[in-house]
Amino acid sequence: MKIATSILSADFAHLAQDIDAVAAAGADLLHVDVMDGHFVSNLTFGPGMVAAIRPITNLPLDVHLMVDDPQRWIPQFAKAGADTLLVHAEATPHLYGALQAVQQAGCKPGVVVNPGTGLATIEEVLPLVGQVLVMTVNPGFGGQKFIPAMTAKVKALAALRQRLGLRFDIEVDGGISAVTAPAVLAAGADILVAGSFIYAAGRPATQIAKLRQVAR
Ligand code: DX5
Ligand code: ZN
Repeated sequence: MKIATSILSADFAHLAQDIDAVAAAGADLLHVDVMDGHFVSNLTFGPGMVAAIRPITNLPLDVHLMVDDPQRWIPQFAKAGADTLLVHAEATPHLYGALQAVQQAGCKPGVVVNPGTGLATIEEVLPLVGQVLVMTVNPGFGGQKFIPAMTAKVKALAALRQRLGLRFDIEVDGGISAVTAPAVLAAGADILVAGSFIYAAGRPATQIAKLRQVAR
C-alpha cells in the first residue's frame, strides 16, 4: 500500500515545511490537485507550483488534473517535473490521445473516474495507464465525506484488471481516513490519497502512521 499525501490541505504559507514533514514520515507520493475553476468549481495550482515543488523534494509528484481540455496542459506539467499525470475521463473526448500524449511527454499516464462514471468508459484505455484513480468524493474540495458505494467500483476494477491481465495501480481519492481506508484496501486499492486526514490535525507523522496501521 502506498500513501499519496495531498498538499491541498497543507498550509500554503509553509508548504516546504509541510512537504518535508510528510516525506520524513514516510509518505510515498505527493499528490498535487490542479483545479481550473471550470472542470471543477474550485481554483488551485498551475504548472508553476509543480516547478516550485520539484527541486525541494525527492517524492514522486502525482499530479491530478481537474481541468477542461487537459491535453493543452500536458507538456507544461511534464516540463515542470510531474511524474504521474492523472487525466479525468470526463474532461476530454480524446482520452486515448491525451494518455498517449502523457506517455510521449515522459510521464506515467493515469486515468481518473468521477463517482458517476462507470468503468466501461475507461476499459479501452486501461492498457495505456500505470494508475487508475477512482474518485471517492465529487472532485473539487478537500475534507468531503467518503462515498461508500465507490468501494464496489474499486472491487470491480480489481477484478477487471485481473481479467485483462494488466498491472496498473488502483488509487482512491477523497474522504480517505483510518476509518474509510480498510474497506477500499480490502477491495483492492493500492494507493491511498489523503489530504485533510493527514494535515488537519497538525500532526502528519501520527496520521500517516495511523493509515499504515490499518493496512496491516
Ligand atoms: C478532491 C481532491 C483530493 C483532495 C482530497 O477533489 O482530488 O485529492 O485533496 O482531500 P481529502 O483527503 O480531504 O478528502
Ligand atoms: Zn486529488
